Amino acid sequence: MEFITYEVEGAVGIVTINRPKALNALNSQVLEELDATFKAVDLDTVRCLILTGAGEKSFVAGADIGEMSTLTKAEGEAFGKKGNDVFRMIETFPIPVIAAINGFALGGGCEISMSCDIRICSDNAVFGQPEVGLGITPGFGGTQRLARIIGVGKAKEMIYGARNIKADEAYRIGLVNNVYTLEELMPAAKKLASIIAANAPIAVRNCKKAINDGLQVDMDQAIVIEEKLFGDCFETEDQKAGMGNFLEKDKEKKLKVVPFQNK
Ligand code: CAA
Repeated sequence: MEFITYEVEGAVGIVTINRPKALNALNSQVLEELDATFKAVDLDTVRCLILTGAGEKSFVAGADIGEMSTLTKAEGEAFGKKGNDVFRMIETFPIPVIAAINGFALGGGCEISMSCDIRICSDNAVFGQPEVGLGITPGFGGTQRLARIIGVGKAKEMIYGARNIKADEAYRIGLVNNVYTLEELMPAAKKLASIIAANAPIAVRNCKKAINDGLQVDMDQAIVIEEKLFGDCFETEDQKAGMGNFLEKDKEKKLKVVPFQNK
């Protein structure tokens, strides 16, 4: 891998996009390496991922403008599909993915963060979809996910106006869950990931699938999705240990969150 590093700390995997000379912009190779990195994650031991960018200035400054500048219509569509396929793989990845956004999250950078389950950022972060200023539309999911996360009106204002927003506004409109100093960002991401990783892994995976799949259909179908994934948890070691723990402990211990040991 030239542009991606992957480290594992306990049950948490950390994927870092590392292309400093282009502020971690996404060219085809970065997209291919991201795809390969996620597909190589050991899902037997890793229970939560963090996605971040190298350095202190930029998470991801977008898709690579140099690479896009000479594309034909057909090549442009294929490049959009390439990014969309990778981002959809991240969105539907079996375990949660936290985006730790450490600076610019523009265009494809904002878009990749939106394919993650949870976004937290540093106070120097800048979000935006500047594509219309470059003569293109957002092409890695921005026209679809931004409206779903912050609402149609705000998304249209940001996208039509190519208006960048800072961390405090991103927090206010619900694009990120929390804002930290740059120094605090990765410790906060690791703490959140560890909390998630300490919970019953089958249940956490099923929650992700239920929320994601349920949002794509009407409520009648959504609750059926929930019922199936709820039922799927039963007879697992997670469920037996989790409920057994509760029933066997004394009253004081019952109130504590129990870290699960099994897969
Ligand atoms: N693609 C390719 N290279 C990029 C890049 C990008 N998206 N963003 C930054 N770079 C490169 C710059 O060309 C520069 O390279 P050189 O040193 O070789 O000249 C290097 O990174 C540093 O960038 P700057 O000198 O511009 O740094 P700055 O601090 O002055 O500005 C910035 C930072 C505001 C993020 C600015 O670089 C910028 O505006 N970048 C482009 C942001 C953008 O428009 N992103 C959307 C891309 S389109 C897209 O993503 C489409 C899609 O939806 C799929």
